[in-house]
Parts: sequence; structure tokens; C-alpha cells
Amino acid sequence: MRTWELLSLSFLMLSSSFVHASGALVSSCDKIPSGYSGKVFKIKTDYLAETSNKKRPWEYISFKEEPQKYAYTILKYIYDGNIDCDFDLHCNKVANWYHAPWMHYGINGREFVNGLTRERSFKPGELHNDQKSMLQNWAISIVNEQGSYTYGQVWKDINNPDITKGEFLDGTVNAKLVFTEATEDDIPTLKNSITWTGYINQSEKGTPKVFKQLRLFQIDFLVKDKRSEETGWVAGTFIYDCTINNKNPWFNMKLVGVAWGNDPNYFRADYIIGKRLLECWINPDVMKGSLGYLGRLNGPIDNKKSSCLSCHSTAQYPEKSPSVPSEQSTEGEIKYWFRNLKEESFDEGALNFDYSKQLSHGIRNYYSAKEENDSIGCNDFNYKRYH
Ligand code: HEC
Repeated sequence: MRTWELLSLSFLMLSSSFVHASGALVSSCDKIPSGYSGKVFKIKTDYLAETSNKKRPWEYISFKEEPQKYAYTILKYIYDGNIDCDFDLHCNKVANWYHAPWMHYGINGREFVNGLTRERSFKPGELHNDQKSMLQNWAISIVNEQGSYTYGQVWKDINNPDITKGEFLDGTVNAKLVFTEATEDDIPTLKNSITWTGYINQSEKGTPKVFKQLRLFQIDFLVKDKRSEETGWVAGTFIYDCTINNKNPWFNMKLVGVAWGNDPNYFRADYIIGKRLLECWINPDVMKGSLGYLGRLNGPIDNKKSSCLSCHSTAQYPEKSPSVPSEQSTEGEIKYWFRNLKEESFDEGALNFDYSKQLSHGIRNYYSAKEENDSIGCNDFNYKRYH
């Protein structure tokens, strides 16, 4: 047997427990500017084909009794091997983490340097009175081995996703790193934050792309934890805060809060008389303005009418209801967005994606591209979308 045959045989044996998908998957539709020689994002999709029983350091920590210990244990778990590699998942030798497919598609799709997707922007004046222009936010999400199993089941056949398989295993951890174009002039606590380069829009959506500096602003997580009777999930979010004053900026993340339910019986009347939310822990030391609907857990860049678990509970296909109630909704209507759903779809007749927006958006993108007869999702990308 020739050397290359041996090599490919051992490669097959080594990787036989993985779903083969990476070859068919696009990392970004950006056209890399000529002469560029820096970092290039490469999607990681060698998802686990069998369930794994890896240790979960948070297993015996109660998210209700010790929310801070729980959240910082999750943060450390997300960091292991990743911060030394600046979140290049291919470089991590300690733990396996993965990206979701089909996030490259469309006007908000992955940029090519770090694989970031475009998020809600800060509108002029949102951060302070002198903020004259819109400031962009871009993010990347990753999933651990347990979670990758579900990605692998849904995307086993990359040309024919199985949308009935979108339920996650206990122990799944999703993390999202949010970077902002804002500087410490806009948000003083951003001083010395981690800086990444993003190939992002010059200004509005669809304007030509340029390299810009972005700063780490927020880290979100969603953990599938069977002890969460309310939703099956525990959400948490941190914001960067230089006043923590650690030399290593990765350790200047301040916990905003942890939530395991939507508080389905808590509405305006309860809020007015000062009743407390029961299905989350909110750091008393954070600005109320950065929270969600009636004080529920949400990130500063997220929609104020929503909350982490409310918006994520709408992850389904087809996306029947919008992910947040409309501006005109009455309280009676808004209640529909704050139910505690556990392994059931938001609307009847839709397939549930178990709080995973990366799955629901990926599937939506895949079907949109298919309708356009675009098998890779980048057709005329640079022309159609940027000119
Ligand atoms: C108004 C809707 C909305 C709200 C509110 C929201 N998210 Fe998300 N989230 C999304 C969307 C859409 C994505 C996927 C798109 C992307 O990553 O670009 C996402 C992605 C994520 C991911 C990556 C895994 C996944 O499910 O796709 C995590 C983790 C996450 N969000 C956590 C949070 C946390 C924690 C909060 C609250 C602090 C929060 N989110 C609030 C819409 C929302």
C-alpha cells in the first residue's frame, strides 16, 4: 500500500466517528481583498456523530442557589483552550468546539476574518447624546461537543437537512461573543478590551465592506440543563468592564445575570408594585437600562421588549411568529412571548429548534438560498448585495 493510501486510511479511521460535512460548507462569502495575509476564518463542522458523556464542571452547582458560581464555571469552561487560541477552534487542543453551518448567507452573513455575523446596531444617541452615527455590533457563536451532536443530526446530509432532529442533549453549551464598533469614548468601561479586526460594512447594511477594529463587549451563554424545569435551559450574560481591573482583559467580564425561566405570570402590575422576578438572578450592580422586558435578563444590545429566553423560545421552522412582540401588542398578546416552553415549538404546526437560533437561522438561510437556486448561498454576493 502506498503512503498516501495509508494516510487516507488512517484519516478515515481517526475521523470515523465524525459526520463528514466540512468540505461542502462555506465559511464566508466575502471576497478577500488582494494582498491580504492576515487571519482567515475557517468554519469547524466535524460534529460528533455519537453522544458524549464528558464531565460537566457545573453539574453539582445549583444555578438558583449559586448563580454567580454557576455562570463563572461556565465562562471558564468556554475559555478553556479557546482564549489561548483567540477562539480559533481549530487551534484548541483542550476541548472541541464547533460552528453552525449556513450563517454565511445574506447581508448579515459571516465576514471572512473571524466569521462574525451582523447583530443589532447601537442607534445614534443610544449610548450617549454625542453619539452621532450608528455603531455596528458583530458576533460569533460556538457550541460544545454535546451540542454539536444535534448540529450533526440535523445537517448529516448537507444538501438535505433533517429538521425533525433539532432537540439538544443535556450538557449542551452555546456561547456567543459580541464585538462592537463602539470605543471607550462611547462606553468608558470598554477600555483595554480584547480587540478583533472585522471586515464589516462601512456604515449601513449593504454598504461596501472595510476592515474595522471591534472590541469584545458581551459574552452570552445558553446551557441545556435538565434541572431547569421551566425551559430546559439556563441563559447567562456577561459584559466587559475594565473597572474589574484584571491585567488579562478576558477576565474583566461582569455577570449581568442568569435566567432559567420566562416568569410567565409576571407583568406590569407586578412590576409596578415592585414584586421580584422569580426565574432569574439579576446582578443588583448592573444598570436597569440594559435589561429586557420588565427587568428580565437581556443583553445591552438586545431588544428591550424581549429577553434571552423569550426570543430564543421562538427558534422554529417555519418562523411563524416574529421573535419579539410588535410595538402595538397589548399585554395580553405579549404574554404569548413569555411562556415557559420546554421541548415544544413556539407555534403550533412548526418544528421546534429547542432555543437554538443558530439552527433556525441556518435552516432558514438554507431554504432561502435553495429557492434562489443557489446551492452554496453566495451567488452574486459581492455584486448583488454591495452595489
Ligand atoms: C430578540 C432576539 C434575541 C434576544 C433577546 C437574545 N438573542 Fe441570543 N441570539 C439571537 C439570534 C437571532 C441568534 C443567532 C444569530 C447570530 O448568532 O448571529 C442568537 C444567538 C445566540 C447564541 C448562540 C447559540 C444559538 O442559540 O444560536 C447564544 C448562546 C445566545 N444567543 C444567548 C443569548 C443570551 C444569553 C441572551 C440574553 C442576554 C440572548 N441571546 C438574547 C436572538 C436573540
